[in-house]
Amino acid sequence: MGKKYALITGTRPQIIKSVPILRAAKKEQSIEIIHIFTGQHYDSYLSDIFFQKLSVGEPDYQLNVGSGSTEYHIRVIMKKLVPILGKLKLNGIIVPGDTNSALASALTGIFLGIPVIHLEAGLRSYDLNMQEEINRRLIDHGASVLFAPTRAAVTNLNNESVLGKVILCGDTMYDLLLAEKSGIIDKDLFIKSTKNLQISEKKYLMLTIHRRENLRNPNLLQQILTTIGETDKITIFPIHPHTRKIANLSQIEIPKNIKLIDPLPYKTFLNLVAYSGLVLTDSGGLQKETYLLGVPCVTLRNSTEWVETVDYGANKIVGANPSLIRSMINEMFNKDIKIDESVYGNGKASIYIIKELIENSPTIPTIPDL
Ligand code: UD1
Repeated sequence: MGKKYALITGTRPQIIKSVPILRAAKKEQSIEIIHIFTGQHYDSYLSDIFFQKLSVGEPDYQLNVGSGSTEYHIRVIMKKLVPILGKLKLNGIIVPGDTNSALASALTGIFLGIPVIHLEAGLRSYDLNMQEEINRRLIDHGASVLFAPTRAAVTNLNNESVLGKVILCGDTMYDLLLAEKSGIIDKDLFIKSTKNLQISEKKYLMLTIHRRENLRNPNLLQQILTTIGETDKITIFPIHPHTRKIANLSQIEIPKNIKLIDPLPYKTFLNLVAYSGLVLTDSGGLQKETYLLGVPCVTLRNSTEWVETVDYGANKIVGANPSLIRSMINEMFNKDIKIDESVYGNGKASIYIIKELIENSPTIPTIPDL
């Protein structure tokens, strides 16, 4: 008999991590994946556009939970998920990443007795000031199957003695990047999408900031932007709606060299990343994507879970410290970096995951009867 799983997403990075899983499952007769979208991200440029442009179809269920605190997300997502999961008769639920939607979904599965399969398990920043670090630790300790993207992630899970089955599989974001690479490294797309930006290849910075740690205190956001302003380097800043709201509310001054644009679809965004001289970001996944595209990265956080990028000298961790930001922009801009893509797998993580989910039924770890 075929297997049936629910995949639960709710935010832009979760959609990106899941696209290769949905694509791989579509090719198999013996697995059905029901896609449930919580609606934590609801602006179309953070959600719908990714379903459309990456051709995975609309989700089967929409929970429309919208924005709110972590407590709100957990309460409302659980309430809406319980009746749906209760009637689906699933072999397990697949939960990608570390967002509030991920934690809420995992908790629902755990309390309903449905095996939880954590996609991108074992990442650690050792910073409990990050909501995402709290979320992924809780998910990993309640999961039945843990798909780890890297060897470092496996080591973390072993050190913590998690009870679920740990499987090293590679990274599904790498799968997607490889599958879409010819559309990302595309000079024509670059020329077309930058017509109004007046930038040329390798002469500009890409900037993204959206983490709660950097937005909680608007002075930090101002400090980062002012420091980038002092460099005079043209900087393209696709601004997350949350960051825009905080910038407007706190009357943040945007230096002249920083050009604000709306968030972009997957390929257009990574195209701008690929042709930039340097990426400045507080995102997790983007640190890895810049690494895989051979672009240097400066991370506006105090820690990273993608330790390989730092080990290879492709990524520098600077927090919001102005003198570190300044010196690392100078040191890293257009720096030639040597990378080893294989630290993130072989581009077939999703195929491997789907095969595993077809061949083996996830079981909740327990002690056998004596
Ligand atoms: C969430 C994830 C983060 C991930 C990020 C990608 C958590 C704790 N964080 O952060 O790990 O890297 O998604 O973007 O789950 N907003 C809108 N439109 C939207 C969604 C959000 O305007 O479609 C605004 C709202 O003001 C909202 C704020 O952004 O309050 C924060 O949204 P939220 O979903 O809580 O977290 P993100 O910052 O997007």
